[in-house]
Amino acid sequence: MNKPRHIAIIMDGNGRWAKLKKLPRKEGHKEGANSVEAVVQTALKEGIKVLSLYAFSTENWARPKTEVNYLMQLLTDTLSKFTEDKYKDVKLVFSGRRKSLPIKILNKLDEVIKATAGNKKITLNLCLNYGARQEITDAVNKILAQGKRKITESDIEKNLYQNLPAPDLIIRTSGEERLSNFLLWQAAYSEFYFTKTLWPDFKGGDLQKAISAYNQRDRRFGAR
Ligand code: FPP
Repeated sequence: MNKPRHIAIIMDGNGRWAKLKKLPRKEGHKEGANSVEAVVQTALKEGIKVLSLYAFSTENWARPKTEVNYLMQLLTDTLSKFTEDKYKDVKLVFSGRRKSLPIKILNKLDEVIKATAGNKKITLNLCLNYGARQEITDAVNKILAQGKRKITESDIEKNLYQNLPAPDLIIRTSGEERLSNFLLWQAAYSEFYFTKTLWPDFKGGDLQKAISAYNQRDRRFGAR
């Protein structure tokens, strides 16, 4: 079977989920964090090697301060769980700009990255304060700082935030069908899966459905 090695997810629809249930937006994010836990466990069971999650974009700072603060707290709390026994096979890595992230979350990130560095089955790439244009710009600046004046594709590849295989499958929930500055470089040959399901309703079975849909795809990488 044609299993995706790397799945990347744009987790969208927390606000609409809460609105439909006449709940405050933060309840949508809270249930969204439960979906994160469920999806990580299912990805592990399915033998997925890399899972990238778009948790906070460089554009998300424009949201009301109370919502941003709530998300930062929720992310910090969820990160704490990744050192629990049920995540013993999960290695955490981070993609994004450290600048402007609160020190509390940076400390927690560093702590969990260090604690999980030896875990082997799945890499969880948390995209936080992440923007793909920024990632490519940062890569180019790193290369220039190395003194290079002529840049190859391989130079850019090697200077992205993480050295991971490109995503085979990119999932976006909530019916929106766009990339929103996520993994622009890495998505060159990715398959896309869009579902109307809102992120707080997206659980393990929904991930399995997306993987089955991927299995039906014929990937040609432009070769025929
Ligand atoms: C999109 O919903 C979601 C976000 C901007 C934040 C993603 C965060 C989580 C899923 C919470 C926890 C994450 C982790 C990794 C623990 P939205 O608010 O844009 O929803 P809307 O488009 O319906 O308003």
